[in-house]
Amino acid sequence: MIYLTRIERFSAAHRMFNPDLSDDKNNELYGLCSNPEWHGHNYTLYVTIKGEVDPDLGYLLNLKKLKGIISKYVIEPLDHKNLNTQVDFLKGIMASTENIAVAIWKVLEDPVKNERAELHCIKIAETENNYIEYYGN
Ligand code: NI
Repeated sequence: MIYLTRIERFSAAHRMFNPDLSDDKNNELYGLCSNPEWHGHNYTLYVTIKGEVDPDLGYLLNLKKLKGIISKYVIEPLDHKNLNTQVDFLKGIMASTENIAVAIWKVLEDPVKNERAELHCIKIAETENNYIEYYGN
């Protein structure tokens, strides 16, 4: 079994808040990420896939193809967007890094399977000090 990781980056705005709570309470729960006037992050995304090396081709999945899949399903919909309001696959979801990782897993799962590979991990760093990893369950 071979594991392959592709790193991509996107910048996006979001706000963490519960509309049923006051700004003060949201600030207590989410700190700077609850700013009512939005704010942005430079996210780093690590997509790790796994599978067997194709004996004829010598690789798991063509990197250009993997980059294309991630660009189409994740980077283009997210980059320079408002994650709360402009992304179909995040509609109705609190735009936390945790939830974004799960949502990215869902949109990449089938396209990666179609290339005879499997998703192994979606890792997202929101800052250089924190990252989330999701392994599909
Ligand atoms: Ni934030």
